[in-house]
Amino acid sequence: MEITDCIRETFGAIKRPTLNELRTALESLPLEKDLSALCGAVPGLLPYGRRVLCRTDEVEVIAIHIPAGSQTAIHDHGQSAGCARIIEGRLLNVWYELDRAGYPEPFMAAALTEGEYMYAPKGQIHQMRNEGEGRVVSLHVYSPPLSGTTSYRPYLEVLDFVI
Ligand SMILES: [Fe+2]
Repeated sequence: MEITDCIRETFGAIKRPTLNELRTALESLPLEKDLSALCGAVPGLLPYGRRVLCRTDEVEVIAIHIPAGSQTAIHDHGQSAGCARIIEGRLLNVWYELDRAGYPEPFMAAALTEGEYMYAPKGQIHQMRNEGEGRVVSLHVYSPPLSGTTSYRPYLEVLDFVI
């Protein structure tokens, strides 16, 4: 069975999962078997690759490929919560909170390597960075499926220098 079929089989029947149940489902995948379908997500318009592998009314499973030196936008996940497993490389996960003016400020960061997991609780704002020399591939699952996500620009990016 292809890994994409395993993913559809594993996540297709899940109803109202907790974050730990999402992690357990990720742990059950035979990811050593064939990763080519996951790593096929390649950068296009975004600075990173993103491929939806399974989407039901309950969950959405996405493979992310961040090339060396690239990063995602600072973003939230709308009403969703999720869990992710690092498949390859070293990922820096940076957490943000909004300042009084609504601009994101980093307050915590954690490096994760192959085989490690990270959680994205509802309301989390974060950015994933690849500061290494090889690619980062990770597998993410969210419940409910992603919708209404927001990306944030830091103050220094929107500041209008007039003096
Ligand atoms: Fe995210």
